Parts: sequence; C-alpha cells; structure tokens
Amino acid sequence: MSVDALIKNGTVVTATDTYAADVAIVDGKIHSIGTNLPQENATRVFNAAGKYVMPGGIDVHTHLDMPFGGTTSADDFETGTRAAAFGGTTTLIDFAIQYKGQTLRTAFDAWMQKAAPKAVADYAFHCIITDLPDARLDEMSQLIRDGVTSFKLFMAYPGVFMLDDASIFRAMRAASKSGAMICMHAENGGAIDVIVKQALAEGKTAPKYHALTRPTTAEAEATARAIALAEMAGAPVYIVHLSCNDALEKVREARDRGLPVYAETCPQYLYLSLDDMDAPGFEGAKYVFTPPLREKWHQEKLWNGLRNDHLQVVSTDHCPFCFKEQKELGKDDFTKIPNGGPGIEHRMSLVYSGGVGKKRFSVNRFVELVSTTPAKIFGLYPRKGTIAVGSDADLVIFDPSREHTISAKTHHMRVDYSMFEGIKVKGMPDVVMSRGRVLVENDKFHGKPGSGNFLKRATYAGV
Ligand code: URP
Ligand code: ZN
Ligand code: ZN
Repeated sequence: MSVDALIKNGTVVTATDTYAADVAIVDGKIHSIGTNLPQENATRVFNAAGKYVMPGGIDVHTHLDMPFGGTTSADDFETGTRAAAFGGTTTLIDFAIQYKGQTLRTAFDAWMQKAAPKAVADYAFHCIITDLPDARLDEMSQLIRDGVTSFKLFMAYPGVFMLDDASIFRAMRAASKSGAMICMHAENGGAIDVIVKQALAEGKTAPKYHALTRPTTAEAEATARAIALAEMAGAPVYIVHLSCNDALEKVREARDRGLPVYAETCPQYLYLSLDDMDAPGFEGAKYVFTPPLREKWHQEKLWNGLRNDHLQVVSTDHCPFCFKEQKELGKDDFTKIPNGGPGIEHRMSLVYSGGVGKKRFSVNRFVELVSTTPAKIFGLYPRKGTIAVGSDADLVIFDPSREHTISAKTHHMRVDYSMFEGIKVKGMPDVVMSRGRVLVENDKFHGKPGSGNFLKRATYAGV
C-alpha cells in the first residue's frame, strides 16, 4: 500500500501523551502511528527529529471579511486562513452574522459565499443572532442539522448586536433541547453606553477611553448573568474573549459547582495591558477591541486560569483593521474606531512561549488549549484536535527551539501593524498540513484558495 506522507523520528504530542513515533498519512487521514514505519512506499518523507508532531491548531473565534463600523475586517478567508496556517492553525470557526430581520439561513449562505472560494484550510461557522422572533428559534434546529451547532449572542452593543435577557434565555432553552452551544459576549452594554456618553460629553475622545469606559465589573456582571441564565435554561454556555480576573472568578465558581460553563481568553489579554493604550498620538487605537485591555496584573491570573482549567481555550478573536484608513475612522472619537485586533497568525507561538516556555504548563496542556478542547467543545473531535488513527491529517511539525521576533514587516496577515510588534517567541511551526496537504513548509506557502472544506459540526456532547 502506498503512503502519501510519512513523518519520521518526531515526538508525537497530544493532550494526554508525549511519545516517539512515526505518523503515516493516506488519503488525508492518519493511517498509522508506530515506531520504525517503513518508508519505501511513502511519496514524501518528513524528518521530524528534535521536533514535536502535534495536531493542527483550532481557532474557534475569528472574524474574516466582517463588516463592522462602516468598514470590513482586513483579512478575507484567503489571507486569513493563509496567515493562520503560517502560525500552525489549520481549522477556524468564524462567525456568520444574522442582521435584524434576516433569517439565520441568510447569514449562513452569505458567509459560505465569502469562505468557500477562498479558504485554504478547513472552516466552520458559529451563527451570531441579533434578533430572535419565534420563527428564528425554529430555524436554530435547521442550522444545527446543517452543522452550525453554536450561536453567539451579545450582551453588549445596544441597538446593533445586543439581545435582551428574555431573548438570550429563549435561545438558551432552544439550545438545551437541541444540543447547541451558546457563545456569549459578556459585557453589560447598557451600563457601558451610559459611561461612554458621559466620557464623550466631557471631551474624552482618545483611544484609551475605549478601555476606561468598559470596566471589568461590566464584564463580570454580564458573565455572572450569562451563567445564571444558562443554569436556569439547563444549557451549557461558553464565554468568549474573557479578559479579566473578575469575570474569571465567576467562571471558576460556576465550574466548581459542576455547571457546564466554559471560557476562552486570547493572547492579547495574556501579553498586553492598559499601558499599551498610552502609546503616543493615536497609536492606542491599535488596541481598541472589546472587551478592552486591562491592568497588567490580570495577565498572571489568566495564565493561572489556563493552567488550572478555569479557562479551557485560547482563541484569537482575530478581527483586523488597518491602522491607516480603518482605525483612523475614529481619530476624533474613540467610539468610531472599528473594534478588533489582528492575532490569527501568532496564537500558537505566543501560547507555547508564554505557557510551556515559561513553565506555566506542559506541552500536553498547550495542545489541549489550542486544539483538543476547542475540537471537543465545538463538535469537531476526534476528526480534528488529536493525533489518532482515522483523524484528519491536520498536523504541525513544531520546532520548540526556533525563535522569532513578531513584526508587521514579516507577518502574513493583511494588516499594517502587529499588536505584538517586537515580542520574541520561542517555538514555531516548520511544516503545517491540512488533511495531509502541505500548506506551509520552511516559511513557504503551498496551499490553494478554495481547498478548505466547510466542516459540519456535531452537537455538544460534553468535554
Ligand atoms: O472588538 C472585538 N472583539 N471585535 C470583534 C467582535 C467581537 O465582539 O468579538
Ligand atoms: Zn465579542
Ligand atoms: Zn469576536
């Protein structure tokens, strides 16, 4: 039998195990794992001596080609999935937005049209629901049958994305019946809007006021409310882009009570802080996203949360806007700065460096956070998120000793700045494969637009 690719001499790392083995790939799947697998019939042989062989990264929170605040996020599904691949991420879950008055199907169709011709790696969608008459509730189960098994709801952005508590509760009850996961943007949008209006009236228009008008208490209150609503509905809930210790405490308490509550954080909250918003001139706009950056001491609390499983996932919330022309839309008023930051490319290296490199957690916990648990929570496991016979051959040959300084000059995202400019990481992918096809090898891209598949996801089945 012929083997399409054989990865020899590497150290296989999964969420549970680390061991020396070869991995053989046939027809895009992992065919066998063993020692001294024969290489005579292999079309390609990769020597992974001294390297880790890990499952491809799964980023469950991206916004590619997304309209926001009068502009559109700068990466589309081609440039976004390509940049992700350079960083070792081979699966994305993006957000299809249902605008008020639209059916959920309209959102799904629109995002399929954006993604299908362009994605170089596999992708799936959550559906953002912005209004919820009874007809939309019925459509949730239709969408679930089509493989969109999670929905994002907003407790912030009144008048744009925000849903009232009754609608959130109705959606959660529907989710609990159908096995869907509710992803929650947890910030108290009503209170924040009052604080924002006051700041503007006082002439406080600089980027830093975006952060100063969104207190940690607003995030903690909404997180607690989301958990309470989910508990009443008997539904699981997944808190997105958790940024601060106050909200983390709410998640920890709920999990200690045995509730199916999960949360992700993002590299920007682990590496950046409110201090970065003091950058000269309008530079602070580079860090305008929600929830905002927090005081530095929150970072170590979040790393602790990742180590102790109070947080289960690191995603990016990649939502890039160029500094020139896009962020500049808010030059005179921070509320007009498009919200979002670029991060899809460096998630794996940042989490590896800060987590494993700094001895905060093991390499297995790293794989769990960036690949295995995202796959389990969002219905992709064991097809994605592990190295096992029969799983998709989404694989990364990862060099733990390779060093890199992050810079907009060398990154592959279609955006004119990096949030992590100048940060040194140790641990980088050498070879990145999606279903056995090489996407990136030695910093060269070999993928093809349109070759990514839409992934129909299973419903939530516990983690
Ligand atoms: O500022 C952010 N996070 N932009 C993307 C939209 C969202 O709330 O995730
Ligand atoms: Zn959000
Ligand atoms: Zn987001």
